[in-house]
Amino acid sequence: MAFSHATIEKNSILLLVLALLTVSIGGLVEIVPLFFIKSTIEEVEGMRPYTPLELSGRDIYIREGCYNCHSQMIRPLRSEVERYGHYSLAAESMYDHPFQWGSKRTGPDLARVGGKYSDEWHVVHMTKPSSVVPETVMPGYPFLAKTPLDTKHIGELLWAHSVVGVPYSQEMIDNAAIDLKAQLDPFSDDYDGLVARYGEVIMRDFDGNPDEVTELDALIAYLQMLGTLVDFSVYDAKANNR
Ligand code: HEC
Repeated sequence: MAFSHATIEKNSILLLVLALLTVSIGGLVEIVPLFFIKSTIEEVEGMRPYTPLELSGRDIYIREGCYNCHSQMIRPLRSEVERYGHYSLAAESMYDHPFQWGSKRTGPDLARVGGKYSDEWHVVHMTKPSSVVPETVMPGYPFLAKTPLDTKHIGELLWAHSVVGVPYSQEMIDNAAIDLKAQLDPFSDDYDGLVARYGEVIMRDFDGNPDEVTELDALIAYLQMLGTLVDFSVYDAKANNR
């Protein structure tokens, strides 16, 4: 051998370089395949990118710091699954930039809150939480219902997400403003376009005020779709057959 072990042990720089080399090979062997194998994030039926309205609602959720009190990841523990529903799958947050998993639960996990309450409940709860849950510590956000949603940059918002890997097509980006309005009105002429681009989407006026597109519309649209995309009766049947 060119180097005897004693030579390496006596030369600290050489030892360091060789140790780093050995460790990095181990690291690379573990990490690199994850970028190439398909199963890093298992593909799950039903997942689609957020509609422009839902994505705007998600931005408001982040802006208002809802994540400081709410997580969005159901751990595969019995107590959690019984309380919140099926544990979260990696694929369910594959279009989340940034993800909202979190570990702080002053309030309950929201990963599957979609469809749990009516829109009216959310309107009242967001405006003054204590009017429906007297003992709550959640603050009210009454200004959301009065603030028109800023839709000027919705196309750019979708584009920015497409840059980091969300599959928004040019067509989706170009029609973002139209799709955003269409989701609030099931009788709109642009209904077909929205369905063609996103598939099954909850379409209705969310805040009870059809005359205006408000921040509350967007936030409730987002809350009502959380955790509803994957049909778990189909997913579990497939998982059991594997
Ligand atoms: C100070 C902590 C705190 C903040 C900030 C907060 N919440 Fe809450 N939230 C709670 C608590 C506590 C509850 C449980 C009692 C209740 O329903 O009000 C709750 C309940 C909820 C529920 C009902 C969940 C269920 O399954 O019953 C929703 C939906 C919700 N919050 C949404 C939000 C949104 C959206 C924001 C940001 C705009 C937000 N929360 C900000 C503490 C918080």
